[in-house]
Formats: sequence, C-alpha cells, structure tokens
Amino acid sequence: MMDLILPDVITSVLETRFIGQRVIHFPSHGSTMEAAKQEARQKAVEGTVVIAEEQTSGKGRAKRIWLSPKGSIALSVVLYPDVSQLSYLVMIASLAAVRSIEAVTGLQTQLKWPNDVLIKGSKVCGILIESELQGSNVAWAIIGIGINANNTMKDYPKIAAAATSLSDEMGKDVSRVAIIRCLLVEMEKLYLSVGDGEHIYQEWRGRLITLGKKVQVLSGERVLDGVAEDVSRDGSLLLRHGNNYLSRIVAGDVTLRDAG
Ligand code: BTN
Repeated sequence: MMDLILPDVITSVLETRFIGQRVIHFPSHGSTMEAAKQEARQKAVEGTVVIAEEQTSGKGRAKRIWLSPKGSIALSVVLYPDVSQLSYLVMIASLAAVRSIEAVTGLQTQLKWPNDVLIKGSKVCGILIESELQGSNVAWAIIGIGINANNTMKDYPKIAAAATSLSDEMGKDVSRVAIIRCLLVEMEKLYLSVGDGEHIYQEWRGRLITLGKKVQVLSGERVLDGVAEDVSRDGSLLLRHGNNYLSRIVAGDVTLRDAG
C-alpha cells in the first residue's frame, strides 16, 4: 500500500528550527509552486512546506511540464533569504536532494548542471527556484523539488529513456516520508550555514559531473557546443568554445557529448 505523506508524520520530532515545521498537504494540486507562492504572498512563516500527492500541472524549468503522478514527491518550500543568498538556493536544494536520496536509499547520485539529480545518467529529481524581488530585497523565494520516487518510469514512455525513479533503481518502494524528512533537515542545515556561500559552492561544484566534459548547451533559442570549463559563484556555466572563446551561461540544459 502506498504511504501517504501526512503533515504530522513529516513534522513529528523533525530536527529543524523552521523548515518543515509547518506542512500543507494536498491529495492533488495543480502545482505546489503556485500554492507556495500564494502562501508567501500572505507572508506565511518561513520554512512552510507545501506537498502534493500528485500535481496536475507540475512546472518544470524553462516552462516545461513536470510529471508528478501519485507515488512521486512534489514539494515546495517558502523562504525569505537575503538577496546575497539567492544564487545559492539552487546549490542548497541540489545538495539537500543528493544527500537525502543517498542517505535513505544508499544509491549513488550525480549532479548535472544546473540542478538535475541523476542516477546512472538518468534524471531522478528536478529542482525549480522561483523568487520575487521588491526593490533590491527578496520578497520571497520558493524551492520546488520533484523526485521520481515510487513510480515505474516505463509507464511514462515520453520520458522513460531519460528518467529513472528510486523504486526502479531499488527494485522496491522507498519511504517517501524518510526522504522528505531528511531533505528538509539537510536543506535547513545548508541554508543556515550559507554564510558567504563558499563551502556550498565548493561542494556543489565538486559534485557536478558536467565539468571538464564536452557538452551541448541549449540556452533559450541558442545551441552552444564546447567544454564545460567551470561554474561561477552565481551558478552560471563557463563554456569554452573551439575558438577559445569563453561564454557564461546563466540558464540552460546540458547534454553530455562524451561517454564517461
Ligand atoms: C525541472 O524541470 O527539472 C524542475 C522540476 C521541478 C518540479 C517540482 S515538483 C514540486 C514543484 N512544483 C512544481 O510544479 N514544480 C516543482
């Protein structure tokens, strides 16, 4: 029988100060990003988590659709960071995701720039950050995390070739509650310790499988080829082209061109 992600079970003796101390749970919702944004606009307490058992209009990066059927994990976290912390949210979310998946399942994960979590090269988790500025301050920021958890990916032929799930990898269902609890604890640890961001940047950079590889980057309408040389502190990718020119890519999708 499928485990339900009940708020009480998430919050019970959760070792955080604020992330996940308030959980709003929907059996079904269009998108937890939209619900979390509404919460943030009404000044919900920082760390409020919105979870849906399934999303009917899940949002991915670059206006793509994110499939979140029952059995997956779909959650959004409301934060009010300082503007200097904004670019680290993607790193914090990525690291919290890989740490929690690895700790609970024992599976090995990889990070593909900017924030795809992979297992053996297939995507298992996606991260979306949305924020609103008010003058030079952050009014709110939302971290959205979607994990293919107890889902059989071959039931979704359109994405099956590039995606995997925790249960497909484990050969059995995983405890979504355990993953969520661990995710929230890790997220708060990273968020509270962000400081100047250096250690978070270094850990994120160190885990990226993209660096040093030949890649093709789709950034808006542009398709760029080169070697992923480095990432900068603001999270952008530095791509070295054949003519030695270096471009800085703020947002895009990377395909690795070399095996290994
Ligand atoms: C991606 O394109 O890789 C990002 C996917 C982000 C999906 C999550 S699921 C929870 C939250 N609600 C949404 O509608 N999207 C994010």
